[in-house]
Amino acid sequence: MLRQVYDNYTPEDFTVWRLLYERQMLQLPQLASQAYLEGVKAMQFSADKIPNFDEINALLSRTTGWEVTVVAGLIPQKEFFELLANKKFPATTWLRKLEELDYLEEPDMFHDVFGHLPLLTNHDFCNFLQEFSKISLKHIENPAAVKLLGRLYWFTVEFGLIEENGLKIYGAGILSSSGESVFCLGNEPARYPFDAEKIMLTDYYIDHYQDKYFVINSYKQLFDSLGEINRVLEKYAAVETIA
Ligand SMILES: [Fe+2]
Repeated sequence: MLRQVYDNYTPEDFTVWRLLYERQMLQLPQLASQAYLEGVKAMQFSADKIPNFDEINALLSRTTGWEVTVVAGLIPQKEFFELLANKKFPATTWLRKLEELDYLEEPDMFHDVFGHLPLLTNHDFCNFLQEFSKISLKHIENPAAVKLLGRLYWFTVEFGLIEENGLKIYGAGILSSSGESVFCLGNEPARYPFDAEKIMLTDYYIDHYQDKYFVINSYKQLFDSLGEINRVLEKYAAVETIA
């Protein structure tokens, strides 16, 4: 099993964490979902310290019972959803380089930890993530279903917006991106009310900002959409599934 080796972090790693953390925490208090901001507080993240996974897990075990588990990088989808279905969130431990603050080929620890972990203190969000992952596992051998489910994950967990006295951000892909945090709430992109079927039929971009975002009313709405997600799968990807 991989572990976070805290002593391996270099002064550059600490600088990168501090720069990214400070830049986002300057703007996110106005832009991010309350639940996310409360999660950042609960996690005791700070500019001066790269988060320690043992400490995060001690905190999470007292809130939702989730935990963070170390992965080297992107992992196969089956493995990914197996971890999530078991309340384990896979995260990398490496940080991008100083000269690449805004460029990432694949998610680093700032994305995984700063972007994703705070919402793991929210029960409704966690319940959704776990049940969604169980559905994904059921259909993991069905490429058509995996594609539809991947879009749902993308437009919620990674790039979701929420209505909370104005539009706020909860998607980790946005929360860990300085530019997209501002862009997604501006005039340029389209925003639609959350609609599982519409999302599952909508393509997304992996190489630039999204041109559309979907807005939930509450994290409970995500959980309540699981039945609809199953219906959409039956409608568009009705092939063999794993019992
Ligand atoms: Fe992510």
